[in-house]
Amino acid sequence: MEEIKPQLIKITFDGIEVEVEPGTTIMQAARKIAEADESQAALVPPAMCFYKPLSASGGKCRACLVRVAQGSAKDPRPMPKLVPSCITQVQEGMVVENTTNQNVLDTRKSIVEFLLINHPLDCPICDQAGECHLQDFAFEHGSAKTRYEEERRTFDKIDIGPHVQLHMTRCILCYRCVYTADQITNKRVHGVMNRGDASEISTYIEKAIDNDFSGNVIDVCPVGALTDKTFRFKNRVWFTKPEDAHRDCDKCSGKVTLWYRGDEVIRVTARKNTWGEVNDFICNTCRFDKKKTSDWVLEGPSKVKRSSVISANKYRADLVKKPDFALKLASTQFKPIDDSRPYTTDEETIRHQSIENNDKANHRSLLAKNN
Ligand code: SF4
Ligand code: FES
Repeated sequence: MEEIKPQLIKITFDGIEVEVEPGTTIMQAARKIAEADESQAALVPPAMCFYKPLSASGGKCRACLVRVAQGSAKDPRPMPKLVPSCITQVQEGMVVENTTNQNVLDTRKSIVEFLLINHPLDCPICDQAGECHLQDFAFEHGSAKTRYEEERRTFDKIDIGPHVQLHMTRCILCYRCVYTADQITNKRVHGVMNRGDASEISTYIEKAIDNDFSGNVIDVCPVGALTDKTFRFKNRVWFTKPEDAHRDCDKCSGKVTLWYRGDEVIRVTARKNTWGEVNDFICNTCRFDKKKTSDWVLEGPSKVKRSSVISANKYRADLVKKPDFALKLASTQFKPIDDSRPYTTDEETIRHQSIENNDKANHRSLLAKNN
């Protein structure tokens, strides 16, 4: 019998028409546009809590708010408020504005500010730096200044087992780890306790998360609130080399990314897709106990976005136009610092100064090595 395909729904997202199946969310429709044409990736709303592999995720962080300028073909009225694109389903004839609407962009800036109210700015010592979604979110949508003067909330350290470190002060309460523990482990012992600004991720009666898949909470955490104790403070992620590898595992798919420092495997993680979501959740044996190259069949360098700091200086360095990008940004985003030092916003002058400074720094490091 011929399979009956559902009738597709046509929507317009930032001026681009796309057809999707009924039940698709606005976020998924935007991702479909980007998957068909990589150059449109910037149109996709950011997601700090939505995580496709986890059912019921989304609707917590408001990073993905968009404007629905026309609800549907039948009812063309705009929606009165901005809506979270990750949990709002499309309607035939819907018109959505994201990057084309200044109000959406301004609101997103406020959401960054809101998330940073309590998140510490400890990126220089945080293991998640370089692969932190909040860092990317703040860089792409935030403001360079903070207006926040109050004390940030802090928490007592809680021990949640031998493998995972919880830093509650960095948590943005996205609930991803809670859904992970709920959906892929058979023994959830952690969740969100209390409400409002007293909310915190905790293990009931401080039980360790000791089931076979608990390590996946590390991979889903968008910030450095849940980190791998076997990797903590070992290296910065941009100095490591990710390689895809697999092994025969009787608990999980055994498909992982090995993170190398020289010849040493210093971390094992699940592989992630373009949107930073885990493809296959992996077991704790693969993640924490298999740290030798001989444990694995290597497949080759992992695909890392060229824009990512992780790919810098490693793969296809000839294609990474780092200095141009950085210098352009410096000249356009330079915010005068409140001091008496002279500064320039001229791109060429910044370029020369940067080359001179690099030379001086290289000279200094050579001297240190030779002495
Ligand atoms: S610990 Fe991480 S994954 Fe869990 S709620 Fe907090 S930010 Fe989200
Ligand atoms: S990603 Fe949509 S609300 Fe968080």
